[in-house]
Amino acid sequence: MMFDFIDGGTGFDIAQDENHKSFQSIALKSRILRNVENISTETSFLSHEYGVPYGIAPMGMCNLISPKADEFISIEACKRNLPHCVSTAASTTLEQTFKDANGNAWFQLYAGSDDSVTFELLDRAREAGFQHLVFTVDTPRHSRRTRDLTNGFSVPLKIGPRQFFDFARHPVWTIRMLMAGAPTPMNYKTSSNGAKFIRSDSRGASDWDFLDRLRKRWNGHLLVKGVNCVDDAVKLKNAGVDGIYVSNHGGRQLDSARPAIDVLPDIREAIGETFPIVFDSGIRSADDVIRALAKGADFVLIGRPILYALGAGGKNGLTVFLNRLDEDLKSVMAQIGVTNIGAVNRQNIS
Ligand SMILES: Cc1cc2nc3c(=O)[nH]c(=O)nc-3n(C[C@H](O)[C@H](O)[C@H](O)COP(=O)(O)O)c2cc1C
Repeated sequence: MMFDFIDGGTGFDIAQDENHKSFQSIALKSRILRNVENISTETSFLSHEYGVPYGIAPMGMCNLISPKADEFISIEACKRNLPHCVSTAASTTLEQTFKDANGNAWFQLYAGSDDSVTFELLDRAREAGFQHLVFTVDTPRHSRRTRDLTNGFSVPLKIGPRQFFDFARHPVWTIRMLMAGAPTPMNYKTSSNGAKFIRSDSRGASDWDFLDRLRKRWNGHLLVKGVNCVDDAVKLKNAGVDGIYVSNHGGRQLDSARPAIDVLPDIREAIGETFPIVFDSGIRSADDVIRALAKGADFVLIGRPILYALGAGGKNGLTVFLNRLDEDLKSVMAQIGVTNIGAVNRQNIS
């Protein structure tokens, strides 16, 4: 059930399969004799210097995968100087995450129909010290997550015979959860107005007027997440956001969506060479990080692989995965003859 919660897409899983296929079809150009002895993966994004061109995508309820998963991600973010984008639906408060990550954190906002709940979260993020707000707009309604429905997955967890049997077959996970206690969406639990996280709640009331109000209330960097259409990207740029977050939510929302990596170059062309773009949806390797940068992203976020690593090996699994990603990134850069990550561009595509 937990694996399907992470791995599943919406409907027939077509959109997420297509994300992978599109990445695999992008060939990078290998180059030789370019003296790639010294390689730098450092990059600057929205006036911040980061150690690598990637961060951790917002993912709700990570502690269901492994107790303290949010904390482990924050520790790695701090150690490696990369941003942990903490979800509204996280199982750790946004304040705690900011502390654990030593400020290397962005806050992802979901806006429901009650503005007072949304704006309280915004105020809390500002007070905690966040400078980056990621407003997710591609979940206007809950989508049909077929694998979750089949498994009877819900938040909070309901335990019937099917789930009981599943837990019994995964004793290590079950014992860990029993010892740590079932995670809860802490940003809601600590809300002053008694807001509750209901996964199927509508977020459909958000519109351009709401974005305008949000822009006026948030002086920090504002990124809008879930953009997969050129016209929307252009309109967002004109609406005064600081960056576009191109994503199809990893194929978890619209099964017939175009792979986000296919839309990315069109968005880059439409909004110009220098307007900040963040990308996720389908990144599984260092090659994919470079592919996305070459297609027009300035920065990318890693989603599911972080949770696979935590599920497989807990804290150590995450460290091993991120170490390998760092090493592989340098290796791929050497193969394509690039010594500075900021220099990756469309010329690197074969
Ligand atoms: C388990 C899980 C939970 C997620 N929760 C959120 C969330 O709370 N907010 C959000 O904006 N996106 C959420 N996402 C989407 C990710 O931020 C990201 O867009 C997606 O994982 C990218 O696809 P990929 O992991 O296949 O690369 C979630 C994704 C997963 C797998």
